[in-house]
Amino acid sequence: MSQWTSSVGAPQLARLLGSQHARDTVTPIGGRRSPAYRSLADGIRLLVLEGRVPVAARLPAERELAAALSVSRTTVAAAYEALRGEGFLESRRGAGSWTAVPAGNPLPTRGLDPLPPEAVGSVIDLGCAALTAPEPWLTRAFQGALEELPPYAHTHGDYPAGLPALRQALADRYTARGIPTMPEQIMVTTGAMGAVAAICRLFAGRGERVAVESPSYANVLQLMREAGTRLVPVAMADRLAGWDLPAWRQVLRDAAPRLAYVIADFHNPTGALAPEEQRRELVEAARAAGTLLIADETMSDLCLEPDVELPRPVCAFDPAGSAVITVGSASKTFWAGLRIGWVRAAPDVIRSLVAARAYADLGTPVLEQLAVTWLLDTEGWDASIDIRRTQTRENRDALVDALGRHLPDWEFTVPKGGLTLWVRTGGLSGSRIAEAGERLGVRVPSGPRFGVDGAFEGFVRLPFTVTGAVAEEAATRLAEAARLVASGATAAVEAPRTYVA
Ligand SMILES: Cc1ncc(COP(=O)(O)O)c(C=O)c1O
Repeated sequence: MSQWTSSVGAPQLARLLGSQHARDTVTPIGGRRSPAYRSLADGIRLLVLEGRVPVAARLPAERELAAALSVSRTTVAAAYEALRGEGFLESRRGAGSWTAVPAGNPLPTRGLDPLPPEAVGSVIDLGCAALTAPEPWLTRAFQGALEELPPYAHTHGDYPAGLPALRQALADRYTARGIPTMPEQIMVTTGAMGAVAAICRLFAGRGERVAVESPSYANVLQLMREAGTRLVPVAMADRLAGWDLPAWRQVLRDAAPRLAYVIADFHNPTGALAPEEQRRELVEAARAAGTLLIADETMSDLCLEPDVELPRPVCAFDPAGSAVITVGSASKTFWAGLRIGWVRAAPDVIRSLVAARAYADLGTPVLEQLAVTWLLDTEGWDASIDIRRTQTRENRDALVDALGRHLPDWEFTVPKGGLTLWVRTGGLSGSRIAEAGERLGVRVPSGPRFGVDGAFEGFVRLPFTVTGAVAEEAATRLAEAARLVASGATAAVEAPRTYVA
């Protein structure tokens, strides 16, 4: 559970229900007009399942909601009663009603578990949003790294803050983006995951609140859960519009979380790109609340459209360097197999992170750091980004096309960057589709992995990491999975057919 009780006021709930009707996403019941109380109960249930209203949020009193919706109090009472019966509401006499998810609802509150490549076989693994290495640059980078290695071989090889040459190269890259940065502001980590883990260890102990986008990147959510922090979800705005700033301001003010974790650049899983004004406002709100903002830039190089003007990084709005900690990674820009990430923060924060590292992982492998340094110091880094963008754009378009043909009632907004499609599965359970897909030879993570407390049951995340023919086969298998789930026949699923990537 998120363990932080938010509340949804009557006007806010009325607004959310109204936008839902405008989108016409409330499941029609047998094509007939359903009674008013039933439509209202369905609407609220969907808001909870889609994470637009958090689990454990206090709902308005019946009388207030009735007034805001211009319906009778009896209608609201009947809707609340129906939700209680289905496990989506808990009430205590005299105290109020809180949203819930039913006991027994599949709650995959865990991260993503990509199959090791040798285990994939005939399965199309869409569990992991990562691409193959952009050759020839991986080979060239390691050849360059080997040439640079001899002087390091005469040292003990532990560089808890990272190799000085790489810290300098990363700092120079921020400076070139208009964010003056010194090497003392950089710490090299074992992937972005290593960076977020180090920040959490230092700042957010057991019981501390962390505000997160809802949905957000599953593995970071899981890392924070395991660290014992209390996640406070804040729903993303609709249709890739970025953040819902009023909701963020309310959470930062009311919950005063120690940390907030955001992915402003081609958000995982939705692909949203937060506009510059939102970045400025979020930094201001975080500073006012005394919350440290972790800005995860892992996806920032994966802009797929030439017409997109990239907003300045979140840290650009924190010139004093006291409110924002930036996390970066070579995993999406270059290759996840390097396991190189970094933190950019104020020098004193970096010193504390480095000191704490001695009892975590001590450091990051030297050869991989030299390979990234070589890429940044040559044309290799930018050339790799170009390869990535072309490849990813083609993959995205192939997947979008295949889904449109095989699953026309699945809904998504095509993002302008990143690696993932966040897909509403036409009213079917994403968890059931994931289960059926697994047996049909396509692995997809279900929506609840990207939520807090069981939200997003009606979603799956599909990365555009496979090429045309494989995307086509993946969509065919997913359509078969959807058909089985819709017919309730998920038990009788055949073993996967063989496919060649
Ligand atoms: C937003 C985000 N952060 C972090 C990661 C993990 O990055 P790394 O491989 O550098 O640990 C991912 C991987 O998908 C991601 O999407």
